[in-house]
Amino acid sequence: MQAAPLDVAAVRAVTRPFHEARTLPAEAYLSPDVLAWELEVFFERSWMCVGRADDLREPGDQRAVAIGDEGILLVRDGDGALVAFHNTCRHRGHELLPCGGEAVNRRVIQCPYHSWVYGLDGELRGAPWFADHPSFERSDPDNALRAARVESWGGWVFVNASGDAPPLAEHLGNLVELLDPYELDRLSSVEGHDYEIASNWKIVSENYHECYHCTEIHPELCKVTPPDSGVQVEPTGLFLGGSMELLDHAETMSLTGESRGAPFRRLDEKLRREVLYLQLMPNLLISAHPDYVMTHRLDPVAPDRTRIECRWLWAPESLELEGFDPSYASEFWDITNRQDWTACEAVQRGVAGRGFRQGPFSEMEGGVYQLAALVAQGYLAGKATGPVPTLPAKAMGLTEGA
Ligand code: FES
Repeated sequence: MQAAPLDVAAVRAVTRPFHEARTLPAEAYLSPDVLAWELEVFFERSWMCVGRADDLREPGDQRAVAIGDEGILLVRDGDGALVAFHNTCRHRGHELLPCGGEAVNRRVIQCPYHSWVYGLDGELRGAPWFADHPSFERSDPDNALRAARVESWGGWVFVNASGDAPPLAEHLGNLVELLDPYELDRLSSVEGHDYEIASNWKIVSENYHECYHCTEIHPELCKVTPPDSGVQVEPTGLFLGGSMELLDHAETMSLTGESRGAPFRRLDEKLRREVLYLQLMPNLLISAHPDYVMTHRLDPVAPDRTRIECRWLWAPESLELEGFDPSYASEFWDITNRQDWTACEAVQRGVAGRGFRQGPFSEMEGGVYQLAALVAQGYLAGKATGPVPTLPAKAMGLTEGA
């Protein structure tokens, strides 16, 4: 794949060592051509998170998702395995289900145009008016749906629409080990909010990776966590992020600092006193608290528009508590999310103005630099590629800030 359609010198400025580096150029947030390139390279040719595996629980459950220009049909097959097909009928190409629509449960996959019917294994089972066709053989493998590459980890589903990305395990790297104590496969979502905001998906991601802005816009958050706390992780996969500590009185991130759930059963003392904020490229933000995990799944719909699915996940020990009420987490984060979205939309408008220039990174923005440089590396290489750039000690959070 070719490099992204951007000025090479402006992109190289992002990949310089931390103290000399600059933020991404404006076109990276504004250009439809850049977004089309990103959707192909960072989303279709890599591993995009498309939701939780338990969104499709029963054999016959099926739903279609869009990954860039590709439609992918996710299906729970007759044996209970999650499989995926390209969402294109083998007759004349009609979509099998509308992308982004509700899940359905059917014993077969049926094209809504001329009613070709496929088994949950993708094989063609019926094609009206073809019984006497002299050159048509229903069982010809070429008539079966084209399989797509799908894998699960931590209860999430990932699709590689192009079929040729490196293995998901390589993409995840040491994220698996880092999040192992949270036993992510056991978690279920009972609460979620969907947002659509007027901002580029990378502005949302950049905002996620710093708390430089927290004292200005997040008064509730600053009551439970010091904005300058925590350290960046050292990833071996295509992810990045860091921790933040809880203040002494706080058990978790909530308006009072109190938890109304149960702490995850395998956390050590350190993990019970902090929150991990991690982004698995390209589109999954994972915020692991001592008692719940929050995720933001980003879905870019235009250079200046992003759909964001926010979910809160709990272990069975919390869900089984009498009168369990998840709002202590969702209310706190809905307030905080909306403060962030307001800021992200203001950044998007500012970036579109003539006064924009590529700015510098403060030592509280190590994660923003790592994200921008990772994106810029990909722009230059024509593929999603590591390693995540290294940081000086202070930007890692390893020495005291100013
Ligand atoms: Fe699907 Fe004709 S396009 S049955």
